[in-house]
Amino acid sequence: MNKKHFRNRLLLLTLASCVGAGSLVGCSDQQTAEENTEVTATTDKNQMEIKQEPFGKTKEGEETTLYTLTNEQGMQVQITNYGATITSVLTPDREGKMADVVLGFDSLAGYQSPEYIKSGPYFGAIVGRYGNRIAKGKFTIDGQEYKLATNNGENHLHGGVKGYDKVVWEAEPVSGENAIRFKYVSPDGEEGYPGTLTSTVTYTLTNDNEIKIDYEATTDKATPVNLTNHSYFNLAAGEEKDALGHVLTLNADKYTVVDEALIPTGEQRNVKGTVMDFTTPQAIGARVKQVEGGGYDHNYVLSESGDGFKKAATVYEPTSGRVMEVLTTEPGIQFYSGNFLDGTITGAGGSKYEKHYGFALETQHFPDSPNQPEFPSTILEPGDTYKSTTVYKFSTRNEQ
Ligand code: BGC
Repeated sequence: MNKKHFRNRLLLLTLASCVGAGSLVGCSDQQTAEENTEVTATTDKNQMEIKQEPFGKTKEGEETTLYTLTNEQGMQVQITNYGATITSVLTPDREGKMADVVLGFDSLAGYQSPEYIKSGPYFGAIVGRYGNRIAKGKFTIDGQEYKLATNNGENHLHGGVKGYDKVVWEAEPVSGENAIRFKYVSPDGEEGYPGTLTSTVTYTLTNDNEIKIDYEATTDKATPVNLTNHSYFNLAAGEEKDALGHVLTLNADKYTVVDEALIPTGEQRNVKGTVMDFTTPQAIGARVKQVEGGGYDHNYVLSESGDGFKKAATVYEPTSGRVMEVLTTEPGIQFYSGNFLDGTITGAGGSKYEKHYGFALETQHFPDSPNQPEFPSTILEPGDTYKSTTVYKFSTRNEQ
């Protein structure tokens, strides 16, 4: 499907929303009248909720759009096609009060500001082609060495200098679902990677308050692929100054040990009896100061093996009662406790993002897999399809 077709289908759905809700931007009477007949064929309750509005212009002059998905419970997720980035997630606390539980901005300017670019936190973005680090930005496939852009000391991080978080994706709604699909075609050689890689990322908001993210990719040359979403959560939604009181459980007995540059040594170490152990619920802040390097920034090896869909993490925030569960088909999850946030960035709603203000749970294959023969492979071959699914499910608990 070409770009224009993508856009037209989305316009149709927005217009369908105009008919139903009447409160959305960009709905002229003429447009709604014209589109009414066509809309009846595709109108369903789910699709009525997709709304789009301008989000700002990139430095290169490209217009970006903000898409809003809403479900029957009133939960709302906003995503921009800049980086296929989740910018806000409104969920209820135990009293039913809605608030935004992710770090982000309400316009593109925030994602393009000098402070943001300098600190590079990747709020809510899709990171790729390879989420996490590749040592020295080098790897070899079939005897050929490839050199990637290095943007984290001498290493490659989250896809390089201009990764998938900094490109404008095409967008189309998914027929019959409360979902929007983003597509990006990365040319052969981009940031040093081999092969043209076509990726789609589909965000679905279910009526059970789940954000489901489905990733797919195909290539014309063997290439490493490791896509993830880089949302930072604070389930207290601005009422706490940091996220250290959140109680985390990880379904992981082991983690991949890293050196001081956060590159895996190859060792997978048991967490038992250490500050890394979240196999039982633990406050993030309880032992964070004892972790080398200023806090958690580690890939955990999820305990159930195989490609099955499994529970990776549960987070409970006692003051609001909010709970978030993470389920995934991936073998690993990077738990990052927002160690490099330093108060230089002020987000939507005026919150200053200080150290540990938010945390990320990035479902993924392990860091530096292209150079670690013992880790599950991340090489996608032509003719194969990369597939990965992650769900972030929101609910509440009553106990304090
Ligand atoms: C990495 C951190 C990094 C952060 C923002 C995380 O995925 O593990 O080391 O600082 O992303 O770039």
